[in-house]
Amino acid sequence: MASITGIGSYLPNKILTNYDLEKMVDTTDEWIIQRTGIRERRIVENGMITSDLATEASLRAMEDAGVTAEELDMIISSTITPDHIFPSTSCYIQQKLGATRASAFDILAACAGFIYAMSIGQSFVNSGAMKTVLIVGAECLSKITDYTDRATCVLFGDGAGAAIIQKSRTKHEILSTNLAADGIQADVLIMPGGGAKNPASLESVQQRMHYIQFKGKEVFKLAINNITNMILETVEKNGLRLKDIDLIIPHQSNLRIIEATMEKLGLPMEKAFVNIDKYGNTSSASIPIAIDEARKEGLLHKGNIVMLVAFGGGLTWGSSIIRW
Ligand SMILES: CC(C)(COP(=O)(O)OP(=O)(O)OC[C@H]1O[C@@H](n2cnc3c(N)ncnc32)[C@H](O)[C@@H]1OP(=O)(O)O)[C@@H](O)C(=O)NCCC(=O)NCCS
Repeated sequence: MASITGIGSYLPNKILTNYDLEKMVDTTDEWIIQRTGIRERRIVENGMITSDLATEASLRAMEDAGVTAEELDMIISSTITPDHIFPSTSCYIQQKLGATRASAFDILAACAGFIYAMSIGQSFVNSGAMKTVLIVGAECLSKITDYTDRATCVLFGDGAGAAIIQKSRTKHEILSTNLAADGIQADVLIMPGGGAKNPASLESVQQRMHYIQFKGKEVFKLAINNITNMILETVEKNGLRLKDIDLIIPHQSNLRIIEATMEKLGLPMEKAFVNIDKYGNTSSASIPIAIDEARKEGLLHKGNIVMLVAFGGGLTWGSSIIRW
């Protein structure tokens, strides 16, 4: 059975606090904490880019799994902040790791991207077509965040997390992955500039199209409903009950989204892992960073049933159940 045999994460050192943001836009530490749960986030510096963050996280996951670069069969990277639109960031990760045997491609499923990557990796490993797959979620969201817009700039941060997927009898078994999308809502969370529709131009820059834009309240409601339903569906599909879940590791987009979801499910907040206060929303990096931290905090024990769940632009969402 496809399993997670190694996990690693990497966060840049530079911290951007709510107090720093108070000096940049009309906001307060109190408003940000109350409405989002975020206290600080990490920001890249010194020319560091997405493939660098991804490579650091990948090296840690590979060390954890005891896997060398030559053993990697495939690299799947998930990001909305690729080094370039093309070639893929995965090819740069392959280059930086020296993983010369690995095929490499990116996927784009925004904040749900790590779960999408896990689903693809799991399928390749379970089918026997690949032995060792590296999946990595990495983001430099600071590069597409409008630091003049108080509604969006308080939310996002940079970081990366990675996992190795292999067949294993002793490691953390991926019991299922579930994916969903709703393209009807594609425009509620978007970076409109830089693609075929609005290629870079003076106008696209003047209209600030190269930054994340969202309809905050709509995304907020859609996130709670879709995440709640997906958790319930996933539990049922796996013949489990809600009370069988030892820990939910949700995408960290807003503490109030996590709290409202737990309330709807009738589960106590102690069953949800939260680290949004330190890193904000790191999109596809959020889930693997959270898994790594939950493990380091001693929250994951052998045999635990762990639910991963993420929601984001597309709209896309997904879940996975891991037997730790
Ligand atoms: C963005 C978000 C935090 C806003 O929280 P909210 O409770 O919905 O706040 P509102 O948008 O209703 O704004 C309330 C007020 O605060 C103001 N405000 C917005 N950002 C502010 C900030 N950083 N500091 C101070 N005030 C702010 C608004 O202008 C508004 O003022 P008004 O009442 O005078 O018009 C919340 O909607 C959210 O997290 N949405 C999802 C965002 C998203 O897409 N994330 C990615 C998904 S994975």
